Amino acid sequence: MRNRRAALAAIAGAASLALTLSACGQNSEGGSEESGDSAKGGTIGIAMPTKSSERWIADGNNVKKDLESKGYKTQLVYGEDDPDQQVSQVENLITQGVKALIVAAIDNKSMNNVLQQAKDANIPVISYDRLILGTKNVDYYASFDNEKVGELQGTYIVEKLGLKDGSKKGPFNIELFAGSNDDNNTRYFFQGAMNVLQPYIDKKQLVVRSGQTKLNQVTTLRWDGGTAQKRMDDILTSAYKSERVDAVLSPYDGISIGILSALKSDDYGSKSKPLPIVTGQDAELASVKSIIADQQSMTVYKDTRQLAKVASNMVDALLNDKKPEVNDTKTYDNGAKVVPAYLLEPVAVDKTNYQKEVVDSGYIKASDLK
Ligand code: GAL
Repeated sequence: MRNRRAALAAIAGAASLALTLSACGQNSEGGSEESGDSAKGGTIGIAMPTKSSERWIADGNNVKKDLESKGYKTQLVYGEDDPDQQVSQVENLITQGVKALIVAAIDNKSMNNVLQQAKDANIPVISYDRLILGTKNVDYYASFDNEKVGELQGTYIVEKLGLKDGSKKGPFNIELFAGSNDDNNTRYFFQGAMNVLQPYIDKKQLVVRSGQTKLNQVTTLRWDGGTAQKRMDDILTSAYKSERVDAVLSPYDGISIGILSALKSDDYGSKSKPLPIVTGQDAELASVKSIIADQQSMTVYKDTRQLAKVASNMVDALLNDKKPEVNDTKTYDNGAKVVPAYLLEPVAVDKTNYQKEVVDSGYIKASDLK
């Protein structure tokens, strides 16, 4: 299946080669879009991981818009969470002669060969949101402070349980979820959260009844909500006979929604069985609605409009022989080099501040929340 899809993507890419770059096209298999009028800066290739989550759709559109406003043309492709497909999409972009690449990888270790091709063709590469690992051929990294994301989630849990100010001693039951094991961000989010939670686990004020506390026991392949729902179902059945779960660490809104479905089918959310604290990330529409409805407790808002700007500015600087602005040159070692990075600040959002942070800022329209 993978090979077939990769082959189809390659054919789709070859077909789009035949189009003039100013044409506007969309292919359903790979989701490739070309546009832009000015030839001023040439075409920039943008490879995003999936359209199954609204954030990546917004990321793609914002990067495209920013680059086009600077006079570049763009070619935006989505890999539909299939690493092979993404690699062949990037290969096609290189063949088409893009001037730079912005890549949010699906599998951070799958890009080495194709990025060597980029290097050979003198195409600079920006790693977008997720760090690409194991290759020197990544020039810059645009992201958020990923460890801080986890810290915000962990801190929210210990504050809301009353552990942080000592008003409650516990013990409280908690279950832990992490993101996809092929995404480098996963370990940063988890590490950040565990920096906060581990001391309480050590003191037995937080108890993980499933016993699943190691990163490799709690990951969720491709950040899939259904996978998380199944794991939460299994945990509730095996580890919570008469006990109740008080908090769930969830790294991402799509996972949180899956976890909440499992909880609700086990009667959580009723008067006698309140929902646990459930964290999240990305301020996706469904989760902000869920927060307003007192289901999901919080999310971590990352203004992806700012991220798109950072990445576009990096490309523009590189193509004009300037040094892109960075604010971190130490944290992100990809195994082959420390990649200079610009990291933005994430913000914890719950019912008390969603209006100010995500609505007043224009990230989500008030009418979409009705
Ligand atoms: C991560 C990203 C998160 C979330 C997740 C699932 O790489 O940093 O914000 O979007 O992927 O898409």
